Amino acid sequence: MNDVTFKKAEKGDLDIILDIYNYYILNTTANFYRHPVSREEITQFILIGNEKYQTYLLHKKGEVAGFCFLTQYKKKDAYDHTAEIGVYLRPECVTRGLGSSAVAFLEEAASKKRIRVIVASISGENTGSMKLFEKMGYEKCAHYKEVGEKFGRLLDVVDYQKILGKSHTHQ
Ligand SMILES: CC(C)(COP(=O)(O)OP(=O)(O)OC[C@H]1O[C@@H](n2cnc3c(N)ncnc32)[C@H](O)[C@@H]1OP(=O)(O)O)[C@@H](O)C(=O)NCCC(=O)NCCS
Repeated sequence: MNDVTFKKAEKGDLDIILDIYNYYILNTTANFYRHPVSREEITQFILIGNEKYQTYLLHKKGEVAGFCFLTQYKKKDAYDHTAEIGVYLRPECVTRGLGSSAVAFLEEAASKKRIRVIVASISGENTGSMKLFEKMGYEKCAHYKEVGEKFGRLLDVVDYQKILGKSHTHQ
């Protein structure tokens, strides 16, 4: 395995998180925002200091290589055992196994919070992300056609999900 470490994100980490996230907003269809987001917007779903749904920075050789998070899947409370997952690495840190480590780490974190189901919602153009989640045992569970538009292109959204093991650490 690679020597990546995970640190719970704090408010002071927001600038670095925004920097990475806005890069993908402005340059790719990996994210469906079309405008750079502010601290207020990003913290609507990338939660800092939330007890259940947490965000982590990935560190590799002392440098921040990216961030990853679990967030609320849907607000209605019957969805409380489900989370949505996200992983965003710095462009120079992709395809070296860090994404796989992040998903494995977040699955552990999810189990400790009694989250049983993880959903990844992926742009239809994001083959790298689909490969990552397929490799990590996620199943394709939905395909929404042409629901987004960015850079003049209509975009599909493909959802993947994984049901985690049934034994939980009680915290
Ligand atoms: C998507 C992302 C998180 C994947 O993490 P990663 O560290 O690059 O992925 P890994 O190195 O762990 O690779 C996992 C698998 O996916 C494959 N893969 C990753 N990126 C790929 C790409 N661009 N094209 C084809 N395959 C790819 C790898 O080959 C590997 O499979 P293998 O072990 O069978 O070779 C990362 O590339 C990233 O941050 N991308 C930009 C932001 C983004 O799209 N985030 C996801 C939003 S849903």
